[in-house]
Amino acid sequence: MEQSDESLYGASEADFFRKRAESWDKRDLQKFDLMLKYCEDSTRLVDVGCGWGKFLEIASKQVDEVWGVDESIEMTKGIEQNCPRAQVVICRADNLDLPSGYFDIAVTSQMLHEVKLFGTRDELYRSLSEIRRILVSGGKYLLVDHLDAGDGNVDVFLPSEKVKLLQEFESKFKYYRAKHNVMAGDIIRISKRTLQDFLSKDIFLNSPMESLEMNETHNVFTRGEVEDCLAAVGMRIEDWIEFMDVTDDLINKDGRFISGKPWMRKFLCVAARED
Ligand SMILES: C[S@@+](CC[C@H](N)C(=O)[O-])C[C@H]1O[C@@H](n2cnc3c(N)ncnc32)[C@H](O)[C@@H]1O
Repeated sequence: MEQSDESLYGASEADFFRKRAESWDKRDLQKFDLMLKYCEDSTRLVDVGCGWGKFLEIASKQVDEVWGVDESIEMTKGIEQNCPRAQVVICRADNLDLPSGYFDIAVTSQMLHEVKLFGTRDELYRSLSEIRRILVSGGKYLLVDHLDAGDGNVDVFLPSEKVKLLQEFESKFKYYRAKHNVMAGDIIRISKRTLQDFLSKDIFLNSPMESLEMNETHNVFTRGEVEDCLAAVGMRIEDWIEFMDVTDDLINKDGRFISGKPWMRKFLCVAARED
């Protein structure tokens, strides 16, 4: 099948992701563990925006039939080795080349924010409608993505070398103007959104992913927005789990909160197709 011309990920981006995945730790895999819990009774699963198929590999140990969809051929390279049972389809989420009413579970893991940020509002709704179309009646949709940190500032301690990294991030980030203020010594005041973007994006600095990542934010969905979008296409939320504490991201940078409450930066939404 032909690669979509508009695909966000080419060969160098795909290569970066694959190499990074080789050193994933428990925290990186947490989202897949959470998703897997909802796949217990499933027989036909599709992962839309499956990338290199890590979740397909994990899910195929307990689900009979696994399908992966991605717009990028480059990202899907290697699935046939890692998960030989997976059927791979190259197409875009808003025009799924898949049968209607076939799957009892559909997942999107960190894919939908790309549709929202790089596509149109229409495309977002079409993608969700397509996911509903391919589900059996009562079938489940697992949506994992980035939570919006919300308004407000926090004060944090960051060692000076990490403040330098933050300055580099702020000078390169294009999605909005990111700027911290120095309070005293190594204590800075920073908006929750900028802190979240910095803590989850510094790994992409000076990598093939830099340009893409500096032009999108990881403050994407609120629960209310997800509820509205899903209701509009005929899906009902059954469960909502927030995970990935920013405190751990700060600790990884030898930092800590001085004032302000920590928060979770990702969510898993479990929805069901309504008829
Ligand atoms: C950030 S990666 C996430 C990969 C994997 N699901 C994970 O959780 O690690 C996003 C993936 O979604 C794919 N993608 C982005 N927009 C898409 C679209 N509109 N239709 C299909 N795939 C898309 C990208 O090619 C990429 O492989």
